[in-house]
Amino acid sequence: MAPSPLLTPFTLGGDLPLKNRMVLAPMTRARAGDSHCPDAMVARYYVQRASAGLVITEGTFISPIANGWVGAPEIYSPAATAGWKEVTDKVHAAGGLNFCQLWHSGRASHTSLHPKEGRAVAASAIAIDEPTVHTPDGKMPHEVPDALTVDSIKATVADFAAAAANAKAAGFDGIELHGANGYLIDTFLQTKTNKRTDEYSGESLEGRFRFLKEVLEAVLEVWPANRVGVRLSPNGSYNDQGSPDFREAFPWFVKQLDTYKLAYIHLLIGLDFGFHKLGEPMVMADFRKVTSTPLIANCGYTQESGEKEVADRNTDLVSYGRPWITNPDLPARFATGTKLADHPPVSIWYSAGPKGYVDYPNADGTVV
Ligand SMILES: Cc1cc2nc3c(=O)[nH]c(=O)nc-3n(C[C@H](O)[C@H](O)[C@H](O)COP(=O)(O)O)c2cc1C
Repeated sequence: MAPSPLLTPFTLGGDLPLKNRMVLAPMTRARAGDSHCPDAMVARYYVQRASAGLVITEGTFISPIANGWVGAPEIYSPAATAGWKEVTDKVHAAGGLNFCQLWHSGRASHTSLHPKEGRAVAASAIAIDEPTVHTPDGKMPHEVPDALTVDSIKATVADFAAAAANAKAAGFDGIELHGANGYLIDTFLQTKTNKRTDEYSGESLEGRFRFLKEVLEAVLEVWPANRVGVRLSPNGSYNDQGSPDFREAFPWFVKQLDTYKLAYIHLLIGLDFGFHKLGEPMVMADFRKVTSTPLIANCGYTQESGEKEVADRNTDLVSYGRPWITNPDLPARFATGTKLADHPPVSIWYSAGPKGYVDYPNADGTVV
């Protein structure tokens, strides 16, 4: 029998050999506590999942004001960088490869997560139209963010570059820019959240793309292009997002990204995390047509649908999120046709401590 297409090797960026085409999707697990620094337990969680062809970390904050999640880790301080070095050393020793997702949460944040820095920031001063945000002081109403000035945009670009340098010092194999799910970069990309009239204007595709372009060009001073990925969510409504022209805009953004010869473009294409319903949802084949950059497909894939997407050449790699929380040895289970454990309950997604984090067993019952 031919091997599952997901279990065939793939060379990323021309020289990074992935042992299979299964990627651990970035997932915030909020186990870094008040210090926002990953520790030995976080390293253990990633080591348990190091049989992925590529491990992408959870979102890591690039600066204090980028912090939008209680207990999520950062990558701007020496202490966090040292913590991540322990993670990458252990993942490498376990035979894994590790990219760091760089995250600025933009308007999804709240002043109480960064009282010294003040209000959350975004492309424009438009609040998320959802009832509450989780803060250190409990559930609070979303606040209207400050629109970034051009000077503060330049400072934010520099924060991304500094975080990218820390990721390099921490021994990561590459970085992923979080341009999806309504966070800061996405607020520039989409008309729903970009009402600017300057050179970052929501009125043109060039204007909307400019912030991501500047961030990308800044991190490319630190990393070679074949070690940098970008994540986008064309169909997503998460964080009150969605632009009517998404079918025109996202292929255009991807074509611009294509010119940089990046490691990959990671598309949250499935609809499980919310669909804005502004038209026919885009599919991987729509993007395969416009780019030769390696693609990672994500959201709601099963073994069968992931295999089909790779076999049909609509994507090169498939990332799995929830299945990987409860099945730390996911590639082995796919290889042997072992029944998967159910998706984890939402109650353990972001809870503190080891329970629901590092206690899921492999198929043979062992907890590594
Ligand atoms: C607990 C949890 C945390 C997540 N955190 C992030 C994150 O930090 N960055 C990100 O880009 N996506 C994040 N996501 C989205 C996942 O990367 C992925 O898109 C989603 O789980 C859908 O894939 P799946 O159907 O294979 O689970 C998160 C999802 C879950 C379930």
